[in-house]
Amino acid sequence: MDRSYSSMWDLDTPALVLDLDALEANIAYMANFMAGASASLRPHSKTHKCAQIARRQIAAGAVGITCAKLGEAEALAPVAPDILIANQIVGPTKIGRLVRLRCQTDVMVAVDAAANIDDLSAAAAAAGVTLRLLVEVDIGMGRCGVDTPEQALELARRVHGASGLVFAGLQGYEGHAVMIPEEEARRAAAEKAMAKLTSARRFIEKSGLPVSIVSGGGTGTYKFTGNYPGVDEVQAGSYATMDARYGGIIPEFRPALSVLATVVSKPNDDRVISDAGLKSITPEFGMPVVLQPEGLVTAKLSEEHGTHDGAGAAGLRLGDKILLQPTHGCTTINLHDRYFVVQGERVVDVWPVDARGRSA
Ligand SMILES: Cc1ncc(COP(=O)(O)O)c(C=O)c1O
Repeated sequence: MDRSYSSMWDLDTPALVLDLDALEANIAYMANFMAGASASLRPHSKTHKCAQIARRQIAAGAVGITCAKLGEAEALAPVAPDILIANQIVGPTKIGRLVRLRCQTDVMVAVDAAANIDDLSAAAAAAGVTLRLLVEVDIGMGRCGVDTPEQALELARRVHGASGLVFAGLQGYEGHAVMIPEEEARRAAAEKAMAKLTSARRFIEKSGLPVSIVSGGGTGTYKFTGNYPGVDEVQAGSYATMDARYGGIIPEFRPALSVLATVVSKPNDDRVISDAGLKSITPEFGMPVVLQPEGLVTAKLSEEHGTHDGAGAAGLRLGDKILLQPTHGCTTINLHDRYFVVQGERVVDVWPVDARGRSA
């Protein structure tokens, strides 16, 4: 790391700041919960995209990691011997890369179409590798996945009978439930989704085909999914760093992520303009929260600039720093090359965002 910084307030900006104590507390809290739960933890790395964090999660007991993209899996493979890509890998270029990755690490992928299974089988057999597949079931989100137990069984049988492939189980993500603010309503939605997923499991098992892994769950639902009978793995990801959106409803995890910005203009006493715009922090789930100083809200973001209004502007001068909390960690982290890791206000390390931009 560049040892010329000792205080985070001296960092050049915009800078992605990670609170090490909060991160470690979050990893330990989840590891402790999952140690007493019926399912295991396979944390989603789509949020943090960082080998240093994945390594800590595995050391704390995670069975492997989940990735969203093939490129993310390639970037994190050196620290993860067991990876689930919780998405479909389609087309000859990607399938070729997947088969090469399989030579390096035990990677499994989701499928929801017969043609994709046939393509994966041909490539795996030609390369002499074995790929584990999870058949994806749409459990209410309306994204990928088959709808019925019969369709899941049909695909499971196709995988089972194909050379180069192993039918490993099912995946279903209750993304429509994870953000429901009221806990009992969130629990009900998660349990309804898991009932659909595990009924597909029972249907397939009744046919004589074993189902080793049923995988689902997010930060908003890990408590329910992690103890739902018939669910084996939980894919929660945001819990490690958290963001303002999740912070409002899942208080047991600490906010570990922020973006440090500099005041570059002060049009009047109630407004400052910072250097953290859309290239540094994302707004799709709402405007970033100003953590410091008090009395400022983010009114808008343009490409290079943040506009922050309120009485807190009065005490700020050009060059002063402000601290923002993103509302969406996954996409904000994807804008940065590195985390500045802090303890208190002291910068103690710099970690690369290894899978940053690996969206292919
Ligand atoms: C398939 C899948 N599993 C798990 C997650 C974990 O999400 P969370 O950010 O709620 O932890 C996501 C998030 O988008 C996802 O797409």
